Amino acid sequence: MKALITGVAGFIGSNLARNLLNEGHQVVGIDTLSDYYDVRIKKANLASLPPGLDFREDDLNTVDLVELLAGVDVVFHQAGQPGVRKSWGADFGIYVEANVLATQRLLEAAKDATSLSRFVYASSSSVYGNAERFPTTEDVRPQPISPYGVTKLAAEHMCSLYAANFGLPTVSLRYFTVYGPGQRPDMAFTRFTRAAVLGERITIFGSGEQIRDFTYVDDVVKANVLAGTTPDVPPGSVFNVAGGSNTSVNDVLGLLAEMGDTPLDVEYIDAVAGDVWRTGGSTAAIDRALGWKAEISLTEGLSRHLEWAHATFH
Ligand code: NAD
Ligand code: UGA
Repeated sequence: MKALITGVAGFIGSNLARNLLNEGHQVVGIDTLSDYYDVRIKKANLASLPPGLDFREDDLNTVDLVELLAGVDVVFHQAGQPGVRKSWGADFGIYVEANVLATQRLLEAAKDATSLSRFVYASSSSVYGNAERFPTTEDVRPQPISPYGVTKLAAEHMCSLYAANFGLPTVSLRYFTVYGPGQRPDMAFTRFTRAAVLGERITIFGSGEQIRDFTYVDDVVKANVLAGTTPDVPPGSVFNVAGGSNTSVNDVLGLLAEMGDTPLDVEYIDAVAGDVWRTGGSTAAIDRALGWKAEISLTEGLSRHLEWAHATFH
């Protein structure tokens, strides 16, 4: 297949690119190398890939999309402005541009791209907000509580609109807090493992009793590959991609202290607006449609993440 990965220099995009290149697929990747976090990390992600990536440093809001989509079979749209807690205030415009406007522009071009057989969109558990039920199924009413979640949901709705009106074969994957080696530096596991390795203080927002359905990055890559290649998936499909951990942040700290065999220096500060209390996704639908189940347990995944932190930050 010829794949287009948007956001290819990012955490999830670069892991997906590694998998597709290793499997012998032709991969075009685009990334604007935004400065949300250290651009050197994104360049290192690209440098770590096997040879063969056709990389374009460009912005989805301005690039020639007809040329970019020429001959592409599957789009994996990972590009976006992530980060729940930063999406308030003046930064909201960045979220709208990267998450809503870029997706609309890409969908508009994709609907005329005759070679395209699938358009996979990186949606988010943040669309649910504080969900009404657990495990949350895809039909639970989305009620995001962060501006970020609003933009991810808007873009997901755009995907469904292009599916319903133009038959664009979209599949939206709602990822639940993705972790693993190379995770973004603003996210919990990278901050916690880095602090553990360097003997620095860990800051917890709120009581630490908030629960997340943490999902290992290799499982997310597999979900993308299946969503991109499984035949007869109805256009406009939406699936949770959730690791099944249902663990509190305090429990993660407990596991980490055990693994490192050292007590952690933990400080609790105020909760942050936009942070949901709990996530927990049902994966029955994605199992039925794509045969996907999470394979990496939290203990295994966290120990790999810690090993990476030792190699990276020590
Ligand atoms: P990331 O920031 O590491 O990667 C996103 C990449 O997109 C960045 O490298 C950025 O430079 C690029 N980008 C942003 N705007 C662009 C534009 N206009 N044109 C081209 N490139 C652009 O983030 P990530 O953690 O790898 O997340 C990837 C996707 O998955 C995002 O859309 C995010 O919203 C979604 N998601 C992530 C998680 C998670 O836990 N990491 C969970 C749910 C959803
Ligand atoms: C993550 C990603 O950042 C979002 O891009 C994504 O859309 C979202 O998952 C999702 O699942 O939809 P989040 O769950 O906040 O968001 O992931 P982390 O940054 O890893 O935080 C997990 C929990 O740890 C949160 O409750 C957060 O408040 C807490 N945390 C994080 C701390 O207490 N201290 C920190 O230093 C970092």
